[in-house]
This record gives sequence, C-alpha cells and structure tokens, in this order.
Amino acid sequence: MPEAAAIVIRKCEGIEEFNACVALQKEVWNFADVDLIPLRMFVVSQKIGGQIIGAFAGDELIGFAFSIPGSRAGHAYLHSHMLAVRNSYRNLGLGRKLKLAQRDDALQRGFELMEWTFDPLEIKNAHLNIVRLGAIARRYSVNHYGYSSSPLQGGLPTDRLVAEWWLKSKRVVNLLDRNQPPSFQVEKKIEVPAQIYTWKASVDERPRAAEVQKRNREQFLAAFPQGLAVLGYERDKQDNGAFLVGRWDETWSYACTADEE
Ligand SMILES: CC(C)(COP(=O)(O)OP(=O)(O)OC[C@H]1O[C@@H](n2cnc3c(N)ncnc32)[C@H](O)[C@@H]1OP(=O)(O)O)[C@@H](O)C(=O)NCCC(=O)NCCS
Repeated sequence: MPEAAAIVIRKCEGIEEFNACVALQKEVWNFADVDLIPLRMFVVSQKIGGQIIGAFAGDELIGFAFSIPGSRAGHAYLHSHMLAVRNSYRNLGLGRKLKLAQRDDALQRGFELMEWTFDPLEIKNAHLNIVRLGAIARRYSVNHYGYSSSPLQGGLPTDRLVAEWWLKSKRVVNLLDRNQPPSFQVEKKIEVPAQIYTWKASVDERPRAAEVQKRNREQFLAAFPQGLAVLGYERDKQDNGAFLVGRWDETWSYACTADEE
C-alpha cells in the first residue's frame, strides 16, 4: 500500500515534468491521441498564469492538477481542466490535497473562483467536489465536449455539471479552514445508482446508464433556472449517490452573458 504521507505536492517545473503529466493523462483517461492535452498546452498554461501542480512519490509523478486562467464579466478566475491520480494511489486523499494546493496558490495570487466541469454520473467525483471541497453547481452543459474517446465516458454524451469553487465563501472557509460542513434545506434529490459504473462499461447495459443520464439531465435543467443549486451530496451504504439541491444563501457570482457560458 503506498504511503500518502511520503508524497510531495508541489508545482511541476520544466519540460520533463510536463511530459510526465501528458503520459499520466494518457494512462488515466486512456484517450485517443487526438483528445490529449499536448505538452505545448502545459507550457502555455504555466506561462500565462495557470497551474500545473504535481503529486510526487520520489521523482515519480503519480498525480497532477492542471488549470488555465479565464475571464468572465471582467473577473479573472481559474478553470481547472484536469485532476488525475494514478490508479494505485487513489483513495489516499491525494486528489483532495492537489485541489487544496490549487486553492492555496489561487488565493495567494488573488483569485476568488476556480471552476471545473465534472461528469454527474461519477459518484466518487461528485462526493469529492461537493462534500470534501465545498464546490457548488448550478450550471449544466449537455454533451459538453461532444463524444469522447475515453472509456471512462462509456460512449455516452459528455454531459457535465460546472463546479464553482468560491474560495473565500463562508461555505468553503467554514468547511476547509474550520471543519464545519454547510447546512441548508434540501428541496430536491437527484439520484445516481451505484451500478452506473458497470452499466457504462458494458455495451449491453449502457442504455440503462443513458436512461439515468437523461432523467437526471432533465431534473438539473429544470432545477437550475429556479435558482436552485447543488449544495450537498450523499452516499448510502450500497454506494448509491444523490445530489442534494437547495438554495445557496451566499451571493458569490460572476454574472455572465450567454456567449461566455
Ligand atoms: C478523481 C480522482 C482524481 C480522485 O483522486 P483520489 O486521490 O482518489 O481522491 P481522494 O482520495 O482525495 O478522494 C476520493 C474520495 O472519494 C471517495 N470514494 C472512493 N470511491 C468511491 C466510490 N466508488 N463512490 C463514492 N465515493 C468514493 C473516497 O472515500 C474519498 O472520499 P473521503 O475522503 O470522504 O473518504 C481520481 O479518482 C482519478 O484520477 N480519477 C480519474 C480521472 C478523473 O475522473 N478526474 C476528475 C475529473 S477531471
């Protein structure tokens, strides 16, 4: 069993370490080459104020977080495009540590917001993003990237929720700096069965995964225009997941036009 304590989280530097990120990206998502973020984009990201933060076991890169700067309605923010941890090092808290290192760096450089998209069918990612990091979601993007070559997508449309991580919000500061989880009234639950992973992986059962995706898509698209947001996530003993939807009592927002969505 790898030792999480022996892993060092730090900024990646230089072509060799960026190349290690590209290789790990390929290993984790198993994308066709055409879908890979190439070395050049890592170089550009570092030059223009993005983030490439690695998790290292000795000299070996075993995880990374990659972000690029963005701008909405006159506000600079960070868009985190990838978070990856090598399979044999998962569930040791390294994904969370990489995100916390992103937050520290973002705050030091004056950012208030980090965003990323995530597949709402991925129960583990939803738990990490909403419960462990305190992100919220109130935007839904249908087939965001078009069809993907990654087997993780299971041939389904690439629907994504947008995670908004308001780094200085009460919600995030209370959770991360004071260990106080947020409380709110749950107005709606949107459920994801634990079998979703096996359904996505099997050609015969994929229609069942597609059905859950369609049902949940309709529920998110109905809830968000009513001012509701994903504020919590719960898992039961069988590892089923459910998004907890309610009204956020904070006003953080970089209002944007439809073009900037
Ligand atoms: C997403 C990813 C980066 C997480 O990395 P990690 O180091 O395993 O993450 P952590 O250990 O910090 O947190 C994982 C959490 O999910 C929980 N978890 C693990 N398996 C789970 C499952 N099947 N269902 C629900 N939750 C699960 C863990 O218990 C842990 O929560 P906890 O801290 O409350 O115990 C990693 O799984 C990965 O590389 N996945 C493939 C790429 C990907 O999907 N990237 C993210 C989208 S861009």
